[in-house]
Amino acid sequence: MCLELFEIIAPVYGLFYEYQKKYYNTVVAGIQKELDLSAYKSIIDIGCGTGALCSVLHQRGLSVTGIDPSQRMLNIAMKKPENKEIDFVRANALQKLPFADRSFDISIASYVAHGLKEQERKLMYAQMSRLSKQLVIIYDYNGNRSAFTNIIERLEGGDYFNFIQNIKSELEEYFGVIKVIDVDSRAAWYICNCA
Ligand SMILES: C[S@@+](CC[C@H](N)C(=O)[O-])C[C@H]1O[C@@H](n2cnc3c(N)ncnc32)[C@H](O)[C@@H]1O
Repeated sequence: MCLELFEIIAPVYGLFYEYQKKYYNTVVAGIQKELDLSAYKSIIDIGCGTGALCSVLHQRGLSVTGIDPSQRMLNIAMKKPENKEIDFVRANALQKLPFADRSFDISIASYVAHGLKEQERKLMYAQMSRLSKQLVIIYDYNGNRSAFTNIIERLEGGDYFNFIQNIKSELEEYFGVIKVIDVDSRAAWYICNCA
């Protein structure tokens, strides 16, 4: 994935912040029966973008850290008054992240993995499992896709089309048994236990 792309599109991405918050709220509420987030205290959101998911997780009582390599994405996240207690850090998940091992109960990456090449995803999984005491959650597409997703993913030039075929087996190979919960018709939480 081209990191500069997110610097360029940050202002447009930011226009969807409220919409994303509403959607992420519904997703987090919907998953509650299968994954009770109130049982956890801290979470790091890898590739947090403009911080919509961070905001929802914070409002649910978690202590939240968001990291992203795009300063313009982070600037939008940091300007939101409701995010002032969230720590936003500019960092790249393909390199060693500036936190000690097992600093967080959960690490989550929302719509980041499909944009990375397989080798890059493995670097990100390594950082996520290093930082997590309990769960690594990859929140991303499931096997269903719309024509719009086809267009966007071709433009983004990531590894979406391989990712979507191999994600479950790739994560099983890396983390062992995983749980997949479809959170809407086109997306899933791939939940990996690293306790
Ligand atoms: C499609 S956006 C998703 C943003 C946010 N997670 C959301 O759900 O709205 C992908 C994000 O991943 C970030 N990203 C790309 N490569 C990354 C990397 N190597 N490490 C961390 N974040 C990365 C981008 O800057 C961008 O903000």
